[in-house]
Amino acid sequence: MTIRAYRDADLGAVIDLWRACDLIRPWNPPAHDIAFCRSSGHGELFVAEAEGRIVGTVMAGHDGHRGWIYYVGVDPARRRDGLGTALMAHAESWLARQGVLKVQLLIRETNTAVAAFYERLGYAVEPRLVMAKRLDRGDGQKNA
Ligand SMILES: CC(C)(COP(=O)(O)OP(=O)(O)OC[C@H]1O[C@@H](n2cnc3c(N)ncnc32)[C@H](O)[C@@H]1OP(=O)(O)O)[C@@H](O)C(=O)NCCC(=O)NCCS
Repeated sequence: MTIRAYRDADLGAVIDLWRACDLIRPWNPPAHDIAFCRSSGHGELFVAEAEGRIVGTVMAGHDGHRGWIYYVGVDPARRRDGLGTALMAHAESWLARQGVLKVQLLIRETNTAVAAFYERLGYAVEPRLVMAKRLDRGDGQKNA
């Protein structure tokens, strides 16, 4: 298994994996998210490849202050084998090399069981209220 930067040819396989991992939401079109991240100059999408197949992903980036992690997903058939841990370590090393001192991530309230995974990696829940607003809609509708 190798972890490497995403390439254009990976798009279909990454979308399939994200679908299998329930990481896709209609308001986050994958191709747009990936292109925006890669063109930002401060973000990367990494993929884990085994036997020519994409079996995991992690997106990492920073906003000039904190590092952020998104799209952590492992092929359901390959879970609990250290792959998620390896992807997170890869993303954290990349962020540290960019000068990031602290990394954060969001967990949907329907997916709180995954907190155990991050806690094993040294993450802790911090008491913050996340507020958000969409800039692509005129109606101020809350994002989901
Ligand atoms: C979360 C996810 C990436 C973990 O990947 P993984 O390759 O199975 O993780 P690892 O094998 O490195 O797990 C390391 C440790 O984390 C913990 N862990 C992993 N998955 C867990 C789960 N579902 N529930 C509780 N603890 C879990 C365990 O302690 C595990 O060690 P163990 O297998 O020795 O008990 C994977 O379950 C996944 O793709 N989930 C769906 C997508 C998702 O929810 N992503 C996160 C969005 S915030």
